[in-house]
Amino acid sequence: MSNIVWHQHSVDQAARAKLKGQNPVLLWFTGLSGAGKSTLAGALERALFEAGFHTYLLDGDNVRHGLCKDLGFSVADRDENLRRVGEVAKLMVDAGLVVLSAFISPTREERDSIRERFPEGQFIEVHVSTPLNICEQRDPKGLYVKARRGEISNFTGISSPYEAPLSAELTIDTSKGDLSSQVSALIDYLTAIGVIN
Ligand code: PPS
Repeated sequence: MSNIVWHQHSVDQAARAKLKGQNPVLLWFTGLSGAGKSTLAGALERALFEAGFHTYLLDGDNVRHGLCKDLGFSVADRDENLRRVGEVAKLMVDAGLVVLSAFISPTREERDSIRERFPEGQFIEVHVSTPLNICEQRDPKGLYVKARRGEISNFTGISSPYEAPLSAELTIDTSKGDLSSQVSALIDYLTAIGVIN
């Protein structure tokens, strides 16, 4: 990048995190539409918030109402959607927050490129691995029916690919067990790695 120089300000991530008394991280939930990403991330955020953590949940549907409302679901638009979200999440982690994100984020390449923006241990990938047939049965927004009818193009899992993570930190199939035990598994993991004391 020419003629642009990074300015290192005196208040840094460590200072902001210390003020908050928490270890900032990004929990990246990935999975098919209807897999339960938003439900799980929302329930975890509620548990963390009630335990006194300063959190923020970036949600695919919501971000597409504003920051990314100019983008659709082509490969290039999804890449740009996730590039922007990765940058916003990076700023939020820099601000000292515990950040959760719920995006389909279908390609390994895009998820890995976001992971690379963070130091080791600060990007935690959570694969919400609920199988396609269950997501399709749930069809909470009626989108799978429309996709099968050909009324939505590039629909993930139907007419657009989803690449499951090869080495996610956590894998949760929301068709097995209940929400509270799934949130407990996430809390246990965050405790084990020292995000929660
Ligand atoms: S991506 O692939 O990460 O850029 O997608 P994301 O920003 O998470 O947006 C997914 C939500 O958009 C709705 N939707 C679609 N999903 C997949 N494919 C197509 N073609 C599509 N069109 C609209 C859908 O409600 C997704 O929400 P979730 O919560 O995942 O069901």
